[in-house]
Amino acid sequence: MKAVWLETGKEITAEELNAQGIVTMKLSTDPATYQGPLDKVMKEQGYVTQDEVNMSPALPNYEAMCAKFEIEHYHPGDEVRFTLAGGGIWEIRSLDDKWMKVEVGAADFISVPDGRYHRFYLTDEKYIKCVRLFKDNNGWVQVYRKEVEAATAKEE
Ligand code: LAC
Ligand code: NI
Repeated sequence: MKAVWLETGKEITAEELNAQGIVTMKLSTDPATYQGPLDKVMKEQGYVTQDEVNMSPALPNYEAMCAKFEIEHYHPGDEVRFTLAGGGIWEIRSLDDKWMKVEVGAADFISVPDGRYHRFYLTDEKYIKCVRLFKDNNGWVQVYRKEVEAATAKEE
């Protein structure tokens, strides 16, 4: 994992990420070894569903998927991902609305809290395989910042 402030390129430590509500961990990519720690996270945080997904140009909906994740959004649920192979980049808003760029690879666990704006894209490798944890279907709901702000502007 490598994290930097997008604006300055200055490194962000795991502790600083943690203080921003972003949990990161390194786990083994061997299922016999990672399942224990994931079970612990599920039990402690109340995640009930675990699945495995991958993203690559081989998927028929690849372009649409990329386009959707690249737009700034949040979920009414935590985004919890453990990368088994490949890599990806999460750009996540800090508590004071700056971009933090977090690049993950195999063995990296990351959790983005409920309601926190972020966007995601693949690295040049164009491949990621990860385990996802969910509490309920809200983890799939994607709320776009530009729509939230357009709706707010209308109310004012
Ligand atoms: C998601 C990520 C990739 O919403 O942001 O699944
Ligand atoms: Ni997301």
